[in-house]
Amino acid sequence: MMQAIERVLISEEDLQKKVQELADCISQQYEGKDPLLITVLKGGFVFAADLFRRITIPASVDFMAVSSYGASSKSSGVVKIIKDLDHPVEGRDVIIIEDILDSGMTLSYLRDMLLQRGVKSLKICTILNKPDRRKADINADYVGFDIPDEFVVGYGLDYAEKYRNLPFVGILKREIYENE
Ligand code: IMP
Ligand code: MG
Repeated sequence: MMQAIERVLISEEDLQKKVQELADCISQQYEGKDPLLITVLKGGFVFAADLFRRITIPASVDFMAVSSYGASSKSSGVVKIIKDLDHPVEGRDVIIIEDILDSGMTLSYLRDMLLQRGVKSLKICTILNKPDRRKADINADYVGFDIPDEFVVGYGLDYAEKYRNLPFVGILKREIYENE
């Protein structure tokens, strides 16, 4: 797998340190609240599992799977729900856990949907943020790292379903996706 990586952008150690900081922050700010962490599959599951284990207050998890309609690589903003949440979110303090906030089209759709379902509060937590690529009017409340506009894989992020299991975030070699 390492042959496909141009260079490591964020090391495993730096990721784990940051996850601990985010978990401490959430544990403090949600003291006495029992927040619901909603993870968008599949990319968010690695970060969510690490974060969840480090949160020290009672908290629950639920999962959603979505796909964008239309062109495969570009997010259209119209989201199809493949797997909906198991439980109602009305009155809950919800935190959406994401792998990366890119154009923001997917998250902005999800945010509106959850607000319509009557959540009590809604925050967004992403381990990676690509501010240069933003199209939708959305920002995360908790951000791990701002990164440049490069295609990255690892720590849950994939290229064609591969590389999610790398423990670091790396920049994918251009030849991997340009020769297809
Ligand atoms: P958007 O914010 O609606 O554009 O979509 C974000 C989704 O696009 C993320 O959840 C990822 O699945 C995917 N994505 C965006 N940038 C990257 C990247 O650099 N590597 C891998 N997946 C990415
Ligand atoms: Mg993806």
